[in-house]
Amino acid sequence: MKTDPSSLSNLTEITTTHLHLNWDISFDKKIIQGYVVLDLKTLVDNVSKVVLDTSYLDIHNVEYNNSLIQFSLAERRKALGSALTINLPDVLRANTAFQLKIMYATTEKCTAVQYLTPEQTLGKNHPYLFSQCQAIHARAFIPCQDSPSIKLTYSANVTSPLRVIMSALERGVSHGDRPGVSTYSFHQPTTMPTYLIAIASGNLESREISHRSKVWCEPEMIEAAAKEFEDTEKFLAAGEQLLTPYDWSRYDLLILPPSFPYGGMENPCLTFVTPTLVAGDKSGVHTVIHEISHSWMGNLVTTKDWTHFWLNEGHTKFIERKIVGRLYGEQEAQLSCIIGWKALKESVELFGKDSLATVLQPDLSNGVDPDDYFSSIPYEKGFNMLYHVETVVGGPKIFEPFVKSYVQHFASKSITTDDWKNYLYEYMRRVHGQEMVNKLDSIDFDAWIHSPGMPPIQHPETLFDTTLADACYSLASRWNASRDKTDFSDFSSKDIESFTTAQKSVFLERLSDQPSFPDHLLKAMDGFYHLTDVRNSEIRFRWQLVCLKGNYKPIYRHVVSFVTEQGRMKYVRPLYRQLSLATDGGAELARSTFLENKDFYHPIASQLIAKDLGLY
Ligand code: BES
Ligand code: ZN
Repeated sequence: MKTDPSSLSNLTEITTTHLHLNWDISFDKKIIQGYVVLDLKTLVDNVSKVVLDTSYLDIHNVEYNNSLIQFSLAERRKALGSALTINLPDVLRANTAFQLKIMYATTEKCTAVQYLTPEQTLGKNHPYLFSQCQAIHARAFIPCQDSPSIKLTYSANVTSPLRVIMSALERGVSHGDRPGVSTYSFHQPTTMPTYLIAIASGNLESREISHRSKVWCEPEMIEAAAKEFEDTEKFLAAGEQLLTPYDWSRYDLLILPPSFPYGGMENPCLTFVTPTLVAGDKSGVHTVIHEISHSWMGNLVTTKDWTHFWLNEGHTKFIERKIVGRLYGEQEAQLSCIIGWKALKESVELFGKDSLATVLQPDLSNGVDPDDYFSSIPYEKGFNMLYHVETVVGGPKIFEPFVKSYVQHFASKSITTDDWKNYLYEYMRRVHGQEMVNKLDSIDFDAWIHSPGMPPIQHPETLFDTTLADACYSLASRWNASRDKTDFSDFSSKDIESFTTAQKSVFLERLSDQPSFPDHLLKAMDGFYHLTDVRNSEIRFRWQLVCLKGNYKPIYRHVVSFVTEQGRMKYVRPLYRQLSLATDGGAELARSTFLENKDFYHPIASQLIAKDLGLY
């Protein structure tokens, strides 16, 4: 039987049903220490060992039936970490439940957690820590079967001098233990994969925004955050309308410090988001809608391993855009599709159209690091395949009920692309008959799922409604046609006045597609639109890319500010890459900026930027 290529655990012999953490956080030592109790169950006869995933852990001892037993830690296999083999004193038969208690501590090389000094926080007075486990970093803070094929419940008691929150429901706080620390208790009663275990601790405050949601962040930003995300309940309700009732009781949001490496992370009961979303204009709410959509797509129906990651992200993009369409109108959803298609093209160009990393269901055997394959491909190729199937079967009226049925059918399971496709056929045959099956047969699923490069679509330019994009395209072509001019009196600040953030993004992306622009033109454009001064991260990011492509020196210092103020990989990786290609000192500036700031970044981001810059 094929098992998860990204796990070293003996997944065919044993499963985990529950995991209990007993943790003590030390901000001074930058470690977490304590124990995990794993509730395990054998799947077959003759099981004599448990193999767990670990990464840079200090394993102290292992207990089975209240006695210490032997274990050994294998040599590290790069991204996959070190297999922890525990030899059982008994040979177990199928369906035997047993517990292991493992005492351990994390080490300074832990990739799952970033520790921030007080200076790196808003308040400047307290340290802070947060975790990020997807895809395979849970093993860097818990010895476990770190595969999304395993679905478990979890509980935790965490002792810390500062407020602790987790991707679970809170059970209580006790202050008794030792002076200066409290113990926070949690439980997650809905089964979920290990990559969704998450924790944060710091000077955190919360503010209710609805009967089932609150926002958490440092006090300095709580007001702005509560305002920015006040519409969260509407998004949840829209998700429930489209799919099934929300299954996780609470939906809270944590706004992280600026080094959070992603836009958002769908940790159950507690989505993590970057503070770059707090722009004052709600332009970042698409990300919250996206993370909410994961409550069904990914968190209930989960990819069996990281080769089917598109099941999580493609479906989530699909639901995200359905919700955007319902709440903000179909044209806005279509504009999001256009932005997505562009992101897909860029990823294909970056990896190369024949690269195996551009395959929807990539081969991850031989220890490929899933972080190295992270790109827009699973998101946007996945989305477009679903969008294409929807069109072929006859539109939303036929396809949306299928998507809901898919969630009901696979809720609390971990599945593969074949499971998805087989159910699609089964459902369409059952509900709509052979004629619909014939329609499905006209789709080249093999090319969609297994071929590298762009999707097999004949006229991609006609795929989406360009009503909102047209004005952006025409403004970009006017600038392009003026590249040899010195008189720009045809342009004015009014050009982009009525544009939304998304439209400005489309305009700037169009500019990036053109050959690079001369300095005097960029200067004139900035004179009209004041793009260098814009604080909105989406616009700032794209404008800086346009300028870097033109080797526009006045932008360099602003790029340095932006990539050192926040560490969201979507922004910092392309900017570092482009800066390092820029003439007149770009490469040296990228290098020195990164080296001076590498401790500011999350360990995953730091590692990837270093790779991008060819540093190690
Ligand atoms: N689950 C992802 C983030 C992720 C994926 C982290 C893989 C680690 C490995 C999250 O839901 C996500 O997709 N975030 C996006 C935002 C979204 C609007 C596309 C991001 O971070 O940019
Ligand atoms: Zn996502």
